[in-house]
Amino acid sequence: MTARQTGQPTPDPADQTADQPETGSALPVRERDRTYFPRAWGITPYDYVQSMMDAVAAFGLLHAAVKRGIFELLSNEELTADELAAACNAKPSYLWRVMNWLHANSFVALRDDRYRLTDLGRGLTAAAERSQRDAVLVTGHPYWLRAIGDLDQTFVRGYPLPEDGLFPYSHLADDDELSYHFNRFMLSRSHAIGVKIANLDDYAHVRTVCDIGGGLGGILAKILHAHPHVTGVLLERPEVAADAHTYFSLQDLDGRVKVIAGDMFDGIPAADRYLLSSVAHNLGDVNYLSLLTQLSQAMAANDHADLLIAEGMLPSAPGRPSRWYDIDARMMAMFPDGRVRSEDEHRRLLEHAGLRAVRSLMLPDDQTLLIAQHAPALIGS
Ligand SMILES: C[S@@+](CC[C@H](N)C(=O)[O-])C[C@H]1O[C@@H](n2cnc3c(N)ncnc32)[C@H](O)[C@@H]1O
Repeated sequence: MTARQTGQPTPDPADQTADQPETGSALPVRERDRTYFPRAWGITPYDYVQSMMDAVAAFGLLHAAVKRGIFELLSNEELTADELAAACNAKPSYLWRVMNWLHANSFVALRDDRYRLTDLGRGLTAAAERSQRDAVLVTGHPYWLRAIGDLDQTFVRGYPLPEDGLFPYSHLADDDELSYHFNRFMLSRSHAIGVKIANLDDYAHVRTVCDIGGGLGGILAKILHAHPHVTGVLLERPEVAADAHTYFSLQDLDGRVKVIAGDMFDGIPAADRYLLSSVAHNLGDVNYLSLLTQLSQAMAANDHADLLIAEGMLPSAPGRPSRWYDIDARMMAMFPDGRVRSEDEHRRLLEHAGLRAVRSLMLPDDQTLLIAQHAPALIGS
């Protein structure tokens, strides 16, 4: 049995050097290896790179299983591989291999030849709380995959190669199915963030919250449910605004939200609290600064106004691992100048716009919340 089959790290002969540690760790202890974080897990450099390549096939299988409806089919009943193959119109011999992979990776369990969902698998059904079904469907869409596959060209050209010449939001406006999944993907990941933002202790002065690029309105809905004296404004692209109306109706919030179908660069509505959640990383510095400047001007007339920026942020110290480097690569691949920033970078751009970050706290999913207020003395400094 090989080391890979047993799950044990494979010692690399190249690592059998004089400074091999006596602990039996697979990697030599050299100064230059100290920032190599999988070393602590005993993973060899070879297996580390291999695991990244294996992840491509793993994601392909997961995406295929979600897209073929395997998780939905198993959500209410246990089925054999043949029954599943018939239900999702798949060749039985191929479906069986997908099921083997799902079983080996704990998405399904097997009893008397019948598959059933584990808790892990249930998280990929549409009805699951914080379902990742739509995230998988979006991430596996050819448009998304191609953008990442073209990164080598993007490095050279300095801007992404959008399919049909369209950048993501124009592309979404043209593709109803992808747009549906994207909006639900955003909605699903926004619930936990919405709860945390709604639980902030300072809503006493807030009468109106305006969520800019607020998607279907998941965060705003949490705030409005938690604070009955607050009314909401959602500013979104027209294609999303129409569905946001429906979402607020389903949430019994019809009379408490004004949905504005428009472009955030065309003007900012009046409000006491502004929210920008996962919007900044789609923008280059020029556009982000222009948006912050508009917000700063809108906030200037209201002493109590503040701006809440919810974003994933890069580590301030280089060399520290963070999932936000991967999201930054996606932004690089898809949006002209889109980027994930460190907290310091956000603070600098806020200051250029005449805003000052007064508080920072962690949100679910390793996101950060920066709260900023108008600080006119900073303009141009
Ligand atoms: C990454 S999503 C974040 C959605 C939501 N704020 C959240 O955190 O779940 C960015 C949102 O910004 C919206 N958006 C992008 N450009 C916009 C623009 N120019 N005007 C208004 N909304 C825009 C998109 O439609 C999308 O819903």
